[in-house]
Amino acid sequence: MSVTPRHLLSIDDLSKQDLLTILDKAQQPQQSVLQHKTVINLFFEASTRTRISFELAAKRLGADVVNFLEIASSTQKGETVLDTFLTVQAMHTDVVVVRHRENGIPALFAKHAQPHVSVINAGDGTHEHPTQAILDMLTIRQHKKNFSDLSIAIVGDVANSRVAQSDIKALQKLEVRDIRVIGPEYFLKSDWLQQADVSLFQDMKSGLTGVDVVIMLRIQKERLSHHLSEKEQQEFIQHFCLDANKLAIANKDVIVMHPGPMNRGIEITSDIADGKHAVIFQQVANGVLARMAVMSFLQGK
Ligand code: NCD
Repeated sequence: MSVTPRHLLSIDDLSKQDLLTILDKAQQPQQSVLQHKTVINLFFEASTRTRISFELAAKRLGADVVNFLEIASSTQKGETVLDTFLTVQAMHTDVVVVRHRENGIPALFAKHAQPHVSVINAGDGTHEHPTQAILDMLTIRQHKKNFSDLSIAIVGDVANSRVAQSDIKALQKLEVRDIRVIGPEYFLKSDWLQQADVSLFQDMKSGLTGVDVVIMLRIQKERLSHHLSEKEQQEFIQHFCLDANKLAIANKDVIVMHPGPMNRGIEITSDIADGKHAVIFQQVANGVLARMAVMSFLQGK
C-alpha cells in the first residue's frame, strides 16, 4: 500500500495513482475536511488566481485562512524567509502554501516542518508549480478521453517556466506519449528540458500539426536569462503568437490553454483567447477544485 505524501513540492511527490485520485476527488463533492484547521498562504511573489484560488479552496473546505503578502511583512525588516515560516508554524498552522521567486524555498520549509504541517508549493522560481499542473490535467480530462492517445504542445518561454516543468511531469505520469515543446531556440535552452524526453520544435507549422491541446505560456520577463530585444519580440509575435492562422494547423477540436496572466497580442491574440477553442477561464475555475482536492488528499481524507 502506498503512503500518502505529506507535502506537495513537485509532481515527483505523486505516483500516477495519487494523481488520478486527486483528479477524481476534484470532480466529487468535497467534505469540510479542514474544519478547525489553519491554512496560511505565504506569497513572496505577485499572484492573482493562484492566491485567490488557494484561499477559496481552503475556505470551502472549512479552514481558517490567513494570507501573508511579502510587501506588508517583517521580511521588509530583514527577517529571513525561513524565520517567517518558523514564525507562522509556531502559531499552530496545519497547511502552509508558499510561492517564492527562488527555486527550492518550499523544500526548505518542508525540511523544517513539524510532523503535522503540510507544505504546498504554489510556484517556486523556474522550478515547479504542481497545483497548476493538476488543474491543467483536470481541464484536459474534461475535454479529452485517453491521455495516452493525445498530442499536446507547450509553446513559448518553456525554459523559464515552472508551469511547463510540472505539466510535462504530470503528462508523462499520465502516459502521454506525444509531448511537443515549441519555441525559439533561446526559450528551449535549459538542462531540465534537454533531459525531459519531449520533442522540440522551433516552428509552429510542424509543431502544431495534429495536436489536440495547445498550452501557451507567458514570457517570464522577471526570470529571463535572455532578454528579448524589440526586434526579437516582434519576431516572436510573428512566429509564435497563437492566432487563427496558426491554430488552423491543429486538430479541429483542439483546446487552447494558458495558465495566466496572459499578454494578449504577444503570446495569444484576443480572438483566440476569447474564442471557442479556449478553456482558459475553465482552468481558473478548476484551480479551486484542484486545490481543494490536493489539500484534502494531503490530509489523508
Ligand atoms: C503562472 C505562475 O505564476 O507560475 N501563473 C499562475 O500561477 N497561474 C504562470 C506565469 O506567471 O506565467
